[in-house]
Amino acid sequence: MKTDVEYLRFMWPMRHFLISCGDIDDKSNIIAASFCMPVSKEPPLIACAIGTKAYSSELIERTKEFIVNVPTKELQATISYCGYHSGRELDKFRETGLTPKAARRVRAPIIEECVAHMECKVVQQFETGDKHLFIGEVIEAYADERVVRGEKKIEYAVGDFPSKVYGIRSKKL
Ligand SMILES: Cc1cc2nc3c(=O)[nH]c(=O)nc-3n(C[C@H](O)[C@H](O)[C@H](O)COP(=O)(O)O)c2cc1C
Repeated sequence: MKTDVEYLRFMWPMRHFLISCGDIDDKSNIIAASFCMPVSKEPPLIACAIGTKAYSSELIERTKEFIVNVPTKELQATISYCGYHSGRELDKFRETGLTPKAARRVRAPIIEECVAHMECKVVQQFETGDKHLFIGEVIEAYADERVVRGEKKIEYAVGDFPSKVYGIRSKKL
C-alpha cells in the first residue's frame, strides 16, 4: 500500500545553512536555509531558494551578494531562531549573539561562529513559485583549518522532517 505524501518529506534529510546578506556597515541579516545545492563545478555555482517574502530576498536582490555559512550542531537552536524570526522585525546578529565579521570580497558579513564560508555573487535569478532562486558564483570559499584537517567534524543539525512547517500530506490537485 502506498499513501499520498508531502513530496518534501522524501527530500529529507537536508543540510541547514546560515546565509548572511546585506551590508556589514548598514543592514545585515541571517536566514536559515536548507534549499541550497551546488549546480555547477566550473564555474562554481550554488543555487539557493529564498522565500519571495523573506527580508533576506530583498537584501540579496539589492546587493546581488550573499554568503553561505556552514554551522555545526552546537548552533542548532540559533538555526531555529534565524528560521523562525524575520530580520524585518529584529537584528538577528544582536539577538543571537552571532558575530558579524568582514568578509573577503563581499559587503555582507561572515558569521564567525560558523566553520566554513562561501562568498557568492548573484549571476542569475529566477522566480520559482514562492521562492526566488538565486544562483551565486562562489568567489571565495574558506574554512576552519581543524575541519579541513578532519580534526573537527561538522555534525549537521539535520533534525527530523519538520511536518509542522510543511504538513504531512500533499495537497490534492
Ligand atoms: C532549518 C530551516 C531551514 C530553512 N530553509 C529555508 C530555505 O531554504 N529557504 C527559505 O526561504 N526559508 C527557509 N527557512 C525559513 C526562513 O529561515 C524564515 O522564513 C526566516 O524567518 C526568514 O527570515 P528573513 O525574513 O529575516 O529573511 C528555513 C527555516 C528553518 C528553521
